[in-house]
Amino acid sequence: MTAIETPPPEAIIVGRSVRMRALFDFLGVIRNSDSTVLITGESGTGKEVTATMIHQHSRRRNRPFVPVSCSLFSETLIESELFGHERGAFTGAVKDRPGRFELAAGGTLFLDDMDDVPLGMQVKLLRVLQNRTIERLGGTHVVPINVRVIAGTKHDLKPMVAAGTFREDLFYRLNVVPITLPPLRQRRDDIPALARHFFERAARRSGGEVAAIPEAMWQALMRYAWPGNVRELENLCERIAQTCHCGTVGHGCLSFDLLAQDPGSATAARSDVVATAGEPLAGGLDGRLRALESTLILWALKVSQGNKSRAAELLQIKRSTLGDRIKRCRIEDIAYDGQLSEPSEPLQHAADEGDARS
Ligand SMILES: Nc1ncnc2c1ncn2[C@@H]1O[C@H](COP(=O)(O)OP(=O)(O)OP(=O)(O)O)[C@@H](O)[C@H]1O
Ligand SMILES: [Mg+2]
Repeated sequence: MTAIETPPPEAIIVGRSVRMRALFDFLGVIRNSDSTVLITGESGTGKEVTATMIHQHSRRRNRPFVPVSCSLFSETLIESELFGHERGAFTGAVKDRPGRFELAAGGTLFLDDMDDVPLGMQVKLLRVLQNRTIERLGGTHVVPINVRVIAGTKHDLKPMVAAGTFREDLFYRLNVVPITLPPLRQRRDDIPALARHFFERAARRSGGEVAAIPEAMWQALMRYAWPGNVRELENLCERIAQTCHCGTVGHGCLSFDLLAQDPGSATAARSDVVATAGEPLAGGLDGRLRALESTLILWALKVSQGNKSRAAELLQIKRSTLGDRIKRCRIEDIAYDGQLSEPSEPLQHAADEGDARS
Protein backbone atom coordinates (compact mmCIF):
# COMPACT_ATOMS: atom_id res chain seq x y z
CA MET A 1 0.00 0.00 0.00
CA THR A 2 2.98 2.33 0.39
CA ALA A 3 3.11 2.77 -3.39
CA ILE A 4 -0.22 4.55 -3.05
CA GLU A 5 1.05 7.26 -0.71
CA THR A 6 4.37 7.73 -2.51
CA PRO A 7 3.96 8.86 -6.11
CA PRO A 8 5.70 6.43 -8.47
CA PRO A 9 8.98 7.66 -9.99
CA GLU A 10 8.59 9.32 -13.36
CA ALA A 11 8.02 6.64 -15.96
CA ILE A 12 10.76 6.56 -18.57
CA ILE A 13 10.04 4.64 -21.73
CA VAL A 14 12.96 4.28 -24.08
CA GLY A 15 12.27 3.30 -27.67
CA ARG A 16 13.58 4.09 -31.15
CA SER A 17 11.85 1.43 -33.22
CA VAL A 18 9.03 2.31 -35.59
CA ARG A 19 6.57 0.45 -33.35
CA MET A 20 7.62 2.29 -30.19
CA ARG A 21 7.55 5.67 -31.95
CA ALA A 22 4.02 4.86 -33.10
CA LEU A 23 3.16 4.05 -29.48
CA PHE A 24 4.51 7.41 -28.25
CA ASP A 25 2.39 9.22 -30.88
CA PHE A 26 -0.64 7.24 -29.78
CA LEU A 27 -0.05 8.01 -26.09
CA GLY A 28 -0.01 11.70 -27.04
CA VAL A 29 -3.35 11.33 -28.79
CA ILE A 30 -5.09 9.65 -25.85
CA ARG A 31 -3.54 11.78 -23.09
CA ASN A 32 -6.69 13.76 -22.32
CA SER A 33 -9.06 10.84 -22.58
CA ASP A 34 -10.51 9.04 -19.59
CA SER A 35 -11.32 5.86 -21.52
CA THR A 36 -10.46 2.42 -20.26
CA VAL A 37 -7.20 1.10 -21.74
CA LEU A 38 -6.27 -2.54 -22.30
CA ILE A 39 -2.51 -3.16 -22.57
CA THR A 40 -1.52 -6.54 -23.99
CA GLY A 41 2.09 -7.68 -23.92
CA GLU A 42 4.31 -10.56 -22.83
CA SER A 43 5.88 -10.42 -19.39
CA GLY A 44 8.53 -7.71 -19.15
CA THR A 45 7.46 -5.73 -22.24
CA GLY A 46 6.61 -2.64 -20.18
CA LYS A 47 2.88 -2.81 -19.43
CA GLU A 48 3.19 -1.24 -15.99
CA VAL A 49 5.64 1.44 -17.07
CA THR A 50 3.28 2.31 -19.96
CA ALA A 51 0.27 2.46 -17.61
CA THR A 52 2.28 4.71 -15.26
CA MET A 53 3.18 6.99 -18.14
CA ILE A 54 -0.44 7.22 -19.31
CA HIS A 55 -1.42 8.23 -15.76
CA GLN A 56 1.40 10.74 -15.40
CA HIS A 57 0.39 12.51 -18.60
CA SER A 58 -3.32 12.50 -17.83
CA ARG A 59 -5.55 14.99 -16.00
CA ARG A 60 -5.46 12.59 -13.06
CA ARG A 61 -1.69 12.87 -12.55
CA ASN A 62 -1.97 14.56 -9.14
CA ARG A 63 -4.16 11.78 -7.80
CA PRO A 64 -2.98 8.23 -6.96
CA PHE A 65 -1.77 5.63 -9.43
CA VAL A 66 -2.69 2.26 -7.90
CA PRO A 67 -1.25 -0.86 -9.53
CA VAL A 68 -2.63 -4.24 -8.55
CA SER A 69 -1.73 -7.64 -9.88
CA CYS A 70 -4.86 -9.76 -10.06
CA SER A 71 -2.76 -12.94 -10.04
CA LEU A 72 -1.33 -12.30 -6.56
CA PHE A 73 -4.53 -13.02 -4.70
CA SER A 74 -6.78 -16.02 -4.27
CA GLU A 75 -10.33 -15.80 -5.65
CA THR A 76 -11.74 -14.79 -2.27
CA LEU A 77 -8.98 -12.35 -1.37
CA ILE A 78 -9.08 -10.49 -4.66
CA GLU A 79 -12.60 -9.28 -4.01
CA SER A 80 -11.64 -7.81 -0.64
CA GLU A 81 -8.44 -6.39 -2.14
CA LEU A 82 -10.30 -4.58 -4.92
CA PHE A 83 -13.56 -3.61 -3.21
CA GLY A 84 -12.47 -3.50 0.45
CA HIS A 85 -14.30 -4.96 3.42
CA GLU A 86 -16.03 -3.97 6.62
CA ARG A 87 -15.05 -5.25 10.00
CA GLY A 88 -16.34 -8.79 10.62
CA ALA A 89 -16.99 -9.51 6.92
CA PHE A 90 -14.89 -12.68 7.27
CA THR A 91 -12.56 -14.30 9.79
CA GLY A 92 -9.57 -11.99 10.15
CA ALA A 93 -11.41 -8.85 9.00
CA VAL A 94 -10.70 -7.02 12.27
CA LYS A 95 -11.27 -3.53 10.94
CA ASP A 96 -12.79 -1.68 7.98
CA ARG A 97 -10.44 -1.57 5.03
CA PRO A 98 -10.90 0.30 1.77
CA GLY A 99 -10.19 -1.58 -1.45
CA ARG A 100 -7.97 -0.50 -4.32
CA PHE A 101 -10.90 1.10 -6.18
CA GLU A 102 -11.43 3.47 -3.26
CA LEU A 103 -7.70 4.06 -2.75
CA ALA A 104 -7.38 5.13 -6.38
CA ALA A 105 -10.13 7.77 -5.98
CA GLY A 106 -9.68 10.50 -8.56
CA GLY A 107 -6.69 8.65 -10.04
CA THR A 108 -5.89 5.56 -12.07
CA LEU A 109 -6.30 1.90 -11.16
CA PHE A 110 -3.97 -0.44 -13.05
CA LEU A 111 -5.52 -3.91 -13.00
CA ASP A 112 -2.65 -6.11 -14.15
CA ASP A 113 -2.82 -9.81 -15.06
CA MET A 114 -6.45 -9.64 -16.15
CA ASP A 115 -5.96 -12.99 -17.88
CA ASP A 116 -5.72 -14.58 -14.41
CA VAL A 117 -9.06 -13.22 -13.14
CA PRO A 118 -11.47 -16.11 -12.43
CA LEU A 119 -14.83 -16.07 -14.24
CA GLY A 120 -16.78 -15.42 -11.03
CA MET A 121 -14.73 -12.30 -10.35
CA GLN A 122 -15.08 -11.19 -13.96
CA VAL A 123 -18.84 -10.83 -13.45
CA LYS A 124 -18.32 -8.67 -10.38
CA LEU A 125 -15.77 -6.49 -12.13
CA LEU A 126 -18.08 -6.00 -15.08
CA ARG A 127 -20.84 -4.86 -12.76
CA VAL A 128 -18.51 -2.37 -11.06
CA LEU A 129 -17.30 -0.95 -14.37
CA GLN A 130 -20.87 -0.61 -15.65
CA ASN A 131 -22.39 0.90 -12.52
CA ARG A 132 -19.27 2.85 -11.42
CA THR A 133 -20.06 1.85 -7.83
CA ILE A 134 -18.68 -0.72 -5.42
CA GLU A 135 -19.90 -2.42 -2.29
CA ARG A 136 -17.36 -3.40 0.33
CA LEU A 137 -17.47 -7.04 1.45
CA GLY A 138 -19.85 -7.23 4.39
CA GLY A 139 -20.86 -3.63 3.70
CA THR A 140 -24.35 -2.27 3.51
CA HIS A 141 -23.96 0.79 1.32
CA VAL A 142 -22.95 1.51 -2.23
CA VAL A 143 -19.85 3.68 -2.79
CA PRO A 144 -19.51 5.63 -6.05
CA ILE A 145 -16.09 5.32 -7.66
CA ASN A 146 -14.14 7.80 -9.72
CA VAL A 147 -11.21 5.96 -11.27
CA ARG A 148 -9.73 5.55 -14.71
CA VAL A 149 -9.11 1.87 -15.30
CA ILE A 150 -6.12 0.55 -17.21
CA ALA A 151 -6.02 -3.22 -17.56
CA GLY A 152 -2.97 -5.30 -18.38
CA THR A 153 -2.76 -8.83 -19.77
CA LYS A 154 0.07 -11.15 -20.78
CA HIS A 155 -2.19 -13.22 -23.01
CA ASP A 156 -4.35 -11.96 -25.82
CA LEU A 157 -7.88 -11.99 -24.37
CA LYS A 158 -9.64 -12.59 -27.69
CA PRO A 159 -8.75 -16.31 -27.90
CA MET A 160 -9.73 -16.59 -24.24
CA VAL A 161 -13.13 -15.12 -25.11
CA ALA A 162 -13.45 -17.68 -27.93
CA ALA A 163 -12.48 -20.48 -25.51
CA GLY A 164 -15.03 -19.30 -22.95
CA THR A 165 -12.47 -18.49 -20.23
CA PHE A 166 -12.91 -14.71 -20.50
CA ARG A 167 -16.27 -12.96 -20.62
CA GLU A 168 -16.96 -11.24 -23.91
CA ASP A 169 -18.90 -8.38 -22.29
CA LEU A 170 -16.00 -7.62 -19.91
CA PHE A 171 -13.53 -7.81 -22.79
CA TYR A 172 -15.43 -5.12 -24.72
CA ARG A 173 -15.74 -3.00 -21.58
CA LEU A 174 -11.93 -3.10 -21.14
CA ASN A 175 -10.84 -3.00 -24.76
CA VAL A 176 -11.95 0.59 -25.42
CA VAL A 177 -8.41 1.79 -26.10
CA PRO A 178 -6.27 -1.24 -27.01
CA ILE A 179 -2.48 -1.04 -26.80
CA THR A 180 -0.23 -3.93 -27.82
CA LEU A 181 3.38 -3.91 -26.65
CA PRO A 182 5.52 -5.97 -29.03
CA PRO A 183 8.03 -8.41 -27.56
CA LEU A 184 11.61 -7.13 -27.61
CA ARG A 185 12.63 -9.68 -30.29
CA GLN A 186 10.23 -7.92 -32.69
CA ARG A 187 11.81 -4.50 -32.08
CA ARG A 188 15.50 -5.21 -31.88
CA ASP A 189 16.27 -1.64 -32.94
CA ASP A 190 15.35 -0.65 -29.37
CA ILE A 191 18.05 -2.85 -27.80
CA PRO A 192 21.06 -0.47 -28.08
CA ALA A 193 19.12 2.53 -26.68
CA LEU A 194 17.62 0.44 -23.88
CA ALA A 195 20.97 -1.12 -22.94
CA ARG A 196 22.67 2.29 -22.93
CA HIS A 197 19.86 3.68 -20.78
CA PHE A 198 20.19 0.84 -18.25
CA PHE A 199 24.03 1.02 -18.18
CA GLU A 200 23.95 4.80 -17.71
CA ARG A 201 21.33 4.55 -14.97
CA ALA A 202 23.39 1.91 -13.15
CA ALA A 203 26.50 4.10 -13.45
CA ARG A 204 24.61 7.15 -12.12
CA ARG A 205 23.36 5.14 -9.14
CA SER A 206 26.77 3.73 -8.26
CA GLY A 207 28.72 6.88 -9.18
CA GLY A 208 30.84 4.78 -11.54
CA GLU A 209 31.69 5.02 -15.22
CA VAL A 210 29.74 3.42 -18.04
CA ALA A 211 31.91 0.52 -19.21
CA ALA A 212 32.82 0.28 -22.88
CA ILE A 213 30.81 -2.35 -24.72
CA PRO A 214 32.79 -4.29 -27.36
CA GLU A 215 31.27 -5.12 -30.73
CA ALA A 216 30.95 -8.85 -29.94
CA MET A 217 28.77 -8.01 -26.99
CA TRP A 218 26.49 -5.71 -29.00
CA GLN A 219 26.10 -8.48 -31.54
CA ALA A 220 25.19 -10.94 -28.80
CA LEU A 221 22.61 -8.53 -27.35
CA MET A 222 21.14 -7.88 -30.78
CA ARG A 223 20.64 -11.51 -31.75
CA TYR A 224 19.41 -12.95 -28.45
CA ALA A 225 15.70 -13.91 -28.29
CA TRP A 226 15.00 -12.07 -24.98
CA PRO A 227 12.23 -14.34 -23.65
CA GLY A 228 12.02 -12.09 -20.56
CA ASN A 229 11.85 -8.98 -22.78
CA VAL A 230 12.95 -5.57 -21.45
CA ARG A 231 13.05 -6.78 -17.84
CA GLU A 232 15.61 -9.44 -18.76
CA LEU A 233 17.76 -6.87 -20.56
CA GLU A 234 17.45 -4.48 -17.61
CA ASN A 235 18.51 -7.20 -15.13
CA LEU A 236 21.42 -8.24 -17.31
CA CYS A 237 22.71 -4.67 -17.68
CA GLU A 238 22.45 -4.10 -13.95
CA ARG A 239 24.26 -7.34 -13.18
CA ILE A 240 27.06 -6.46 -15.60
CA ALA A 241 27.32 -2.93 -14.19
CA GLN A 242 27.65 -4.33 -10.69
CA THR A 243 30.10 -7.11 -11.45
CA CYS A 244 32.28 -5.67 -14.20
CA HIS A 245 34.96 -3.36 -12.83
CA CYS A 246 37.56 -3.57 -15.58
CA GLY A 247 36.31 -0.59 -17.62
CA THR A 248 35.46 -2.72 -20.64
CA VAL A 249 32.72 -5.29 -20.67
CA GLY A 250 34.47 -8.45 -21.73
CA HIS A 251 36.28 -11.49 -20.40
CA GLY A 252 34.33 -12.88 -17.45
CA CYS A 253 31.48 -10.37 -17.86
CA LEU A 254 30.54 -12.01 -21.12
CA SER A 255 30.22 -15.54 -19.81
CA PHE A 256 26.46 -15.51 -19.80
CA ASP A 257 24.11 -17.78 -21.65
CA LEU A 258 23.14 -15.33 -24.30
CA LEU A 259 26.65 -15.22 -25.71
CA ALA A 260 26.69 -18.92 -26.38
CA GLN A 261 23.29 -19.51 -27.86
CA ASP A 262 22.41 -22.53 -29.87
CA PRO A 263 22.01 -22.18 -33.62
CA GLY A 264 18.23 -22.02 -33.15
CA SER A 265 18.81 -18.37 -32.31
CA ALA A 266 20.50 -17.96 -35.65
CA THR A 267 17.21 -19.08 -37.15
CA ALA A 268 15.56 -16.38 -35.05
CA ALA A 269 18.01 -13.84 -36.48
CA ARG A 270 17.05 -14.93 -39.99
CA SER A 271 13.36 -14.63 -39.22
CA ASP A 272 13.94 -10.99 -38.26
CA VAL A 273 14.55 -10.29 -41.91
CA VAL A 274 10.88 -10.99 -42.36
CA ALA A 275 9.79 -9.37 -39.08
CA THR A 276 11.29 -6.01 -40.10
CA ALA A 277 10.08 -6.10 -43.70
CA GLY A 278 9.58 -2.58 -44.99
CA GLU A 279 12.40 -1.17 -42.82
CA PRO A 280 16.13 -1.21 -43.65
CA LEU A 281 17.73 -4.38 -42.30
CA ALA A 282 19.23 -3.48 -38.90
CA GLY A 283 22.98 -4.13 -39.07
CA GLY A 284 22.97 -4.57 -42.86
CA LEU A 285 23.66 -7.86 -44.63
CA ASP A 286 27.36 -7.91 -43.66
CA GLY A 287 26.56 -7.16 -40.02
CA ARG A 288 23.92 -9.90 -39.97
CA LEU A 289 26.26 -12.44 -41.56
CA ARG A 290 29.00 -11.57 -39.05
CA ALA A 291 26.49 -11.91 -36.20
CA LEU A 292 25.33 -15.27 -37.53
CA GLU A 293 28.94 -16.43 -37.82
CA SER A 294 29.71 -15.41 -34.21
CA THR A 295 26.51 -17.11 -33.01
CA LEU A 296 27.48 -20.40 -34.61
CA ILE A 297 31.08 -20.20 -33.39
CA LEU A 298 29.97 -19.34 -29.85
CA TRP A 299 27.48 -22.21 -29.94
CA ALA A 300 30.20 -24.67 -31.00
CA LEU A 301 32.58 -23.35 -28.34
CA LYS A 302 29.89 -23.69 -25.70
CA VAL A 303 28.98 -27.22 -26.68
CA SER A 304 32.65 -28.22 -26.81
CA GLN A 305 33.33 -26.40 -23.55
CA GLY A 306 35.98 -24.28 -25.20
CA ASN A 307 37.74 -27.18 -26.97
CA LYS A 308 38.56 -25.61 -30.32
CA SER A 309 39.34 -28.88 -32.13
CA ARG A 310 35.95 -30.30 -31.18
CA ALA A 311 34.28 -26.95 -32.02
CA ALA A 312 35.90 -27.03 -35.48
CA GLU A 313 34.57 -30.57 -35.96
CA LEU A 314 31.06 -29.47 -35.04
CA LEU A 315 31.27 -26.58 -37.47
CA GLN A 316 32.83 -28.82 -40.11
CA ILE A 317 35.77 -26.49 -40.72
CA LYS A 318 39.51 -26.83 -40.13
CA ARG A 319 40.91 -26.04 -36.69
CA SER A 320 43.11 -23.29 -38.21
CA THR A 321 40.11 -21.76 -40.03
CA LEU A 322 38.22 -21.65 -36.74
CA GLY A 323 41.17 -19.78 -35.18
CA ASP A 324 41.02 -17.17 -37.99
CA ARG A 325 37.25 -16.78 -37.71
CA ILE A 326 37.45 -16.38 -33.91
CA LYS A 327 39.93 -13.53 -34.44
CA ARG A 328 37.83 -11.97 -37.18
CA CYS A 329 34.71 -12.04 -34.99
CA ARG A 330 36.73 -10.71 -32.05
CA ILE A 331 35.45 -13.35 -29.69
CA GLU A 332 38.79 -14.69 -28.48
CA ASP A 333 38.47 -13.26 -24.98
CA ILE A 334 35.13 -14.72 -24.10
CA ALA A 335 34.97 -17.18 -21.23
CA TYR A 336 32.89 -20.31 -21.73
CA ASP A 337 31.64 -21.50 -18.42
CA GLY A 338 28.12 -22.37 -19.56
CA GLN A 339 26.78 -25.80 -18.73
CA LEU A 340 26.21 -28.18 -21.58
CA SER A 341 22.58 -27.66 -22.40
CA GLU A 342 22.51 -28.73 -26.02
CA PRO A 343 23.28 -32.17 -27.42
CA SER A 344 26.65 -31.99 -29.19
CA GLU A 345 25.29 -32.74 -32.63
CA PRO A 346 27.06 -31.76 -35.81
CA LEU A 347 25.98 -28.32 -36.99
CA GLN A 348 23.97 -29.48 -39.99
CA HIS A 349 21.44 -31.42 -37.93
CA ALA A 350 21.11 -28.77 -35.27
CA ALA A 351 20.83 -25.87 -37.72
CA ASP A 352 18.03 -27.57 -39.63
CA GLU A 353 15.72 -27.48 -36.64
CA GLY A 354 13.14 -24.69 -36.46
CA ASP A 355 13.19 -22.23 -33.59
CA ALA A 356 10.12 -22.65 -31.45
CA ARG A 357 10.76 -19.30 -29.79
CA SER A 358 10.42 -17.18 -32.87
N1 LIG B 1 10.58 0.89 -23.06
C1 LIG B 1 11.14 0.83 -21.84
N2 LIG B 1 12.06 1.75 -21.48
C2 LIG B 1 12.67 1.69 -20.29
N3 LIG B 1 12.41 0.76 -19.36
C3 LIG B 1 11.50 -0.19 -19.65
C4 LIG B 1 10.81 -0.20 -20.90
N4 LIG B 1 9.97 -1.26 -20.92
C5 LIG B 1 10.12 -1.87 -19.76
N5 LIG B 1 11.03 -1.24 -18.98
C6 LIG B 1 11.48 -1.66 -17.64
O1 LIG B 1 11.46 -3.09 -17.64
C7 LIG B 1 10.93 -3.59 -16.42
C8 LIG B 1 9.68 -4.40 -16.74
O2 LIG B 1 8.64 -3.52 -17.17
P1 LIG B 1 7.13 -3.66 -16.64
O3 LIG B 1 7.12 -4.05 -15.21
O4 LIG B 1 6.41 -2.42 -17.03
O5 LIG B 1 6.70 -4.91 -17.54
P2 LIG B 1 5.35 -5.73 -17.52
O6 LIG B 1 4.92 -5.88 -18.93
O7 LIG B 1 4.37 -5.09 -16.57
O8 LIG B 1 5.82 -7.13 -16.97
P3 LIG B 1 4.96 -8.27 -16.19
O9 LIG B 1 3.96 -8.81 -17.17
O10 LIG B 1 5.99 -9.31 -15.84
O11 LIG B 1 4.33 -7.61 -15.01
C9 LIG B 1 10.63 -2.38 -15.54
O12 LIG B 1 11.71 -2.16 -14.66
C10 LIG B 1 10.53 -1.23 -16.54
O13 LIG B 1 10.88 -0.02 -15.97
MG1 LIG C 1 3.52 -5.84 -14.78
